Amino acid sequence: MNDNTPSHGLQLTSTLDADGTLRLALIEAPLDAPASDEVLVRLEAVPINPSDLMPLLAGGDPATAHFGGSAARPEVAIALPPEAAQAYAGRIGAALQPGLAGAGTVVAAGADAQHLLGRRVTLLSLRRGTFGQYVTVTTAECAPLPEDLSSREGADAFCNPMTALAIAETVRLDGHKALIHTAAASNLGQMLVRICAEDGLPLVNVVRRAEQAQLLRDLGAEHVCNSADPDFAAQLRDAIATTGATVAFDAIGGGASPGLLLEAMEDVAAAAMGFYSPYGSLTLKQVNIYGHLDRTPTVLHNARYGMLWDVRNWALPRTLGQLPPERIAAMNARVLGGLKTTFASHFTREISLAQVLDRETMAAYAKLATGEKFLINPTL
Ligand SMILES: NC(=O)c1ccc[n+]([C@@H]2O[C@H](COP(=O)([O-])OP(=O)(O)OC[C@H]3O[C@@H](n4cnc5c(N)ncnc54)[C@H](OP(=O)(O)O)[C@@H]3O)[C@@H](O)[C@H]2O)c1
Repeated sequence: MNDNTPSHGLQLTSTLDADGTLRLALIEAPLDAPASDEVLVRLEAVPINPSDLMPLLAGGDPATAHFGGSAARPEVAIALPPEAAQAYAGRIGAALQPGLAGAGTVVAAGADAQHLLGRRVTLLSLRRGTFGQYVTVTTAECAPLPEDLSSREGADAFCNPMTALAIAETVRLDGHKALIHTAAASNLGQMLVRICAEDGLPLVNVVRRAEQAQLLRDLGAEHVCNSADPDFAAQLRDAIATTGATVAFDAIGGGASPGLLLEAMEDVAAAAMGFYSPYGSLTLKQVNIYGHLDRTPTVLHNARYGMLWDVRNWALPRTLGQLPPERIAAMNARVLGGLKTTFASHFTREISLAQVLDRETMAAYAKLATGEKFLINPTL
């Protein structure tokens, strides 16, 4: 690092005390000098995604938080519910750094990464958090942004876009011809609508509000079912019968959701057999739980789905591990080429690092509401 390279930067940390108190703070942290294949990035745009809330809040409710510190160095303390404190006991005492994604400018580079010095990059950082002013990442964890893309446009080029693409890959790898997607008006869900339209992959979207259904129809979605409608069960079965969906990607994950999806797919498959079998249909139905928007335990009624069904947890790294490097490179290239269109993320509020720990702001982003994605601008 040269003399102008910063040695410290503000970093948001989340620490669980042994008594079950979660402490959030902005601290002045020393920056890791980049190793030969690493770069130090000054962060300019960092999304707040659902996956960031787990390290940040650990199941704590901002409504019960105590806010202290100063405007520039806020501090938050949240007493975790006993079940959350128990579930996260493994992190007691560790100052976790939340934040996976982001974009910014390379301000220092190791010997093998000099070509990136001064370039703006988009990144996914698995080891160090992006809720800070700077982050050090390997060259494999970042990619140069095309000149015509702002850091804001490139802030989430890996997490949601690659997940949406990998969902479509999994459908094909597992031999399905159509899929169901829940919480489908999410940022990721809107990308999936555009991907499936481009790829000719039939998609059944499940949402929970009329305005979300309209939003997706305005994007061109053909099959949208609203779980708040009295005839939801019939809507879902019709869409499954029309598309031939035998797999679901469920971001809700908890409660009755995976079971309802299995049951609907089994009902359609059993009806298509033309005769009754006590063993159910001969169609394999799969539900991939890939989010946990509903934190309650998953409830399955095993007798309702026939014999051929499968519920599993799905995560992006597993699918990427199944794909050849050239396929992943093609997916990355498709994302970088489509960040203004197919993979565009819409951020409704831009906030400073200190505002991440502001009472009203925390309550708003913790809701994970449709169309209310927050972007941190650590340069503010
Ligand atoms: N497994 C992986 O590898 C992976 C990778 C990336 C993302 N993800 C998951 O992808 C999902 C979408 O992420 P995103 O960033 O696109 O989300 P987002 O834009 O923040 O949107 C969240 C959506 O979820 C809905 N929602 C929240 N709680 C719900 C509930 N209990 N039941 C039904 N709908 C609910 C919201 O609708 P309302 O407005 O009605 O509340 C909103 O439409 C998240 O679950 C995330 O964890 C998983």
